[in-house]
Amino acid sequence: MEKKFWHDAWRNRQIGFHRSDIHPMLLRHWPDHARVSGDVLVPLCGKTLDMRWLAERGHGVTGIELDEGAIREFFTEWGIEPDCSDSPLSCSAEGISLLAMDFFEYRPSRRFPYFYDRAALVALPHSMRGDYLARLAELVESGGEGLLITFEYDQGAMDGPPFSVPEQEVRGQRWFEVERLERSDVTASHPGLVQRGALRLVEVCYWLRRL
Ligand SMILES: C[S@@+](CC[C@H](N)C(=O)[O-])C[C@H]1O[C@@H](n2cnc3c(N)ncnc32)[C@H](O)[C@@H]1O
Repeated sequence: MEKKFWHDAWRNRQIGFHRSDIHPMLLRHWPDHARVSGDVLVPLCGKTLDMRWLAERGHGVTGIELDEGAIREFFTEWGIEPDCSDSPLSCSAEGISLLAMDFFEYRPSRRFPYFYDRAALVALPHSMRGDYLARLAELVESGGEGLLITFEYDQGAMDGPPFSVPEQEVRGQRWFEVERLERSDVTASHPGLVQRGALRLVEVCYWLRRL
């Protein structure tokens, strides 16, 4: 997607992807799989509350988000005054650092032991997903792990985002070992996507380990 698409989405409050709860699949699966502490990279993070949950569990969290407004909202809604610097905007508080930049241009000096992808891979069209996974793989240390949550639906019936990412695509990449943890029919809880044409919507949760 064009960057403008996402800036417009934030400005026009078309942010139906934002949840007011902690993602249930994160709650169900993270504690059993991420048993030791370590920093978590959250690509395309928006203002997800999941980052607060990860930080409360003792993880340092680094979120990468294009839209500065989303980052400011994250801290304002939390009621916390972060330490910020500009160019690019970078704000930190309580173990969470959010950086306003294009994930594809993010070049930190270290690699992460964990990542968390909810609504990041599925936010990208097929033409960008290979590059996204290659970038993610470069940012995760060997043996590093993370939770990936995708949607599956009839892509012919609705335009993304969110895009349908079939399991064979997740398994087809060459950087991560893949374990599927859960498939769940979530049609009933996404009436907006049903209205757009996704008559049956399945959410799939994977645990990935960097090879
Ligand atoms: C579908 S939302 C998901 C946000 C978050 N993961 C969540 O679960 O609420 C995708 C987010 O990625 C951001 N985004 C899109 N492309 C990006 C890019 N290339 N680099 C960084 N952020 C990006 C958008 O601004 C948007 O906030």
